[in-house]
Amino acid sequence: MGKVWQQRFAGPLDERIHELNRSIGFDYRLGPDDVRVSQVWARALERCGVLSSDELTALVAGLESVGTELTEGSFQVQPDDEDIHMAVERRLTELIGDPARKLHHGRSRNDLVATDLKLYVRENTAAVNGQLSQVIQSLVTLAEQHQDTPFPGHTHLQQAQVISLGHLLLARAWSLRGDYLHLREAVGRHNSCPLGSGALGGATVPVDRAWLAKQLGFAGPAPNSVEAVTSRDFVLDILYALTRLGAHLSQLAEDFILWSSQEFGFVTLDDTIATGSSLLAHKKNPDVFELLRGKCGRLAGNLTGLLVTLKGLPGGYNKDLQEDKEPLFDSIETMTSLLPGLQAALEGVSFNTGVIAEKLHPALLSERIVAYLTDKGLPFREAYGICGQAVKLAEDTGLPLTNLSLTRWQELSSAFEEDVIDLLAQPWSVPASGVAGGSNRAAVKAQVKELSEWLESVATV
Ligand code: ARG
Repeated sequence: MGKVWQQRFAGPLDERIHELNRSIGFDYRLGPDDVRVSQVWARALERCGVLSSDELTALVAGLESVGTELTEGSFQVQPDDEDIHMAVERRLTELIGDPARKLHHGRSRNDLVATDLKLYVRENTAAVNGQLSQVIQSLVTLAEQHQDTPFPGHTHLQQAQVISLGHLLLARAWSLRGDYLHLREAVGRHNSCPLGSGALGGATVPVDRAWLAKQLGFAGPAPNSVEAVTSRDFVLDILYALTRLGAHLSQLAEDFILWSSQEFGFVTLDDTIATGSSLLAHKKNPDVFELLRGKCGRLAGNLTGLLVTLKGLPGGYNKDLQEDKEPLFDSIETMTSLLPGLQAALEGVSFNTGVIAEKLHPALLSERIVAYLTDKGLPFREAYGICGQAVKLAEDTGLPLTNLSLTRWQELSSAFEEDVIDLLAQPWSVPASGVAGGSNRAAVKAQVKELSEWLESVATV
């Protein structure tokens, strides 16, 4: 059939440039959205008198058939198809003939592609969030199981404070909940409809843009036609939201990689989630978590790449904008393959609570000692200083703090009495109560409740 714009040119486009120019190899993903947008556009054309009602019926039905071919996989891409928009129009023309030639009246691929892409973003980010909420649910379940498990909370990767393992897992759940909301907000922030913006100056037929926006589920028409076809802020914001989520997944993965190492031994990976080595017969590797950590790099790369592409573009549509799609598709598809993997991984981890208890370093008792002394009325700094001396003494003598004799304690401060020995011998436990949002059973329970209620509320959206 040749290119629609061929008549303006003396000869055909160099094949090598055609190959470079064409985006159908990746923008075929927009096919179903392109059909939907085109059907709405056809209705708008009929409403303003460009199409007769018979033409509209033919167009809508023809587009429906194209849509079916696209979703069923029988759609044949032709060598001359430049992008999905031209391919849909070409196929429609083959199927219904003349009325198809009126479809592009008043619109441009510039407003079309921006609209298609916004629909794609809306649907696919909702799918990401659906998967993400299941991951959050798995974390909450794991946290609930371990709300009473004392765990060495680290700062600087040094044991810092005994906390509830459930509390630590919930920290990750809260971050992911933040990412869920962030992604949803990022989509909501760009809820205006580019369709009707034409090439840049507004559609050349008097379509009702408010009606168009409503039909496609947008809050309203984009307020400025140039901005509507030029801006890819909505893609940038989504790429950032996915990168932020990726960074959190990477951090979570790093915890499990460390915990499943021989050095930590805190976590055992079920055989269904671990992978072997081609050489070392004993190996059991946490590949799933390493991929979660590793793929964060490409998410950040996609965001950075598009930022650099956009920087310095003159106003109006430029073909550089075609470069928005591959990073977007890649980030979405990376995420939709990562999240089910993580879900499976979380279902296949078990915490070795015995090992965790053994690894709690006696120096963590410093918190109890300082509290003991401040309860006796010593100012915090003095108590802290005495405790520091005790820790140093234990280190110098090679004894754990629990083995220091009462005489040693009393040499450090006359405030120590016999009960300090019992205090230090008590096993670790998660306190029943404490500050809101802290590592105590009441606060952890409250978090589990709040997150569970939230998960229920988003499941019903
Ligand atoms: N494939 C193009 C893209 O993704 C569609 C828009 C083309 N517009 C144009 N004026 N050549 O950006």
